[in-house]
Amino acid sequence: MAKLNINGKQVDIDVDGSTPLLWVLREQLGLTGTKYSCGIGVCGACTVHINGEAVRSCIVPVSSLDMSQAVTTIEGLSSDNRHPLQQAWNELDVPQCGYCQPGMIMTAAALLNNNPNPGDDDIDAEVSNICRCGTFNRVRRGIHLAADIQKRHNKGGR
Ligand code: FES
Ligand code: FES
Repeated sequence: MAKLNINGKQVDIDVDGSTPLLWVLREQLGLTGTKYSCGIGVCGACTVHINGEAVRSCIVPVSSLDMSQAVTTIEGLSSDNRHPLQQAWNELDVPQCGYCQPGMIMTAAALLNNNPNPGDDDIDAEVSNICRCGTFNRVRRGIHLAADIQKRHNKGGR
């Protein structure tokens, strides 16, 4: 039995310690926004946050986690689905099929946490997620727009 801290709640799960976090999220907890694609830490479809940093949950064994590590999934990113990235994604229609997009958004959210005004080079360096639909240019524009929205929020606007 392991106790995990998922989207601000304690959850008790009974799985083998080698089970990747991705499968606990999807299979045990029904948090299917986090996607499975490569399974080897390359594509980023499974990206979540651990203590605010982007991590690829397909290569994180549950045994490496405890309650001190706050896991946030796409479902927990915003209580009202109005995170600046979600607003920007809607405004620019960033997704195509959508499969990679939760991972893109979680990676971008960690980038904006660390760098509220990223340039194209920062985005290219930090967002290495793979999109088979080729939405990379819209992703980049979405991150710039989200950074602007975030700045407006911080000045008291919405
Ligand atoms: S499914 Fe985890 S990085 Fe591809
Ligand atoms: S939007 Fe289809 S894989 Fe990225």
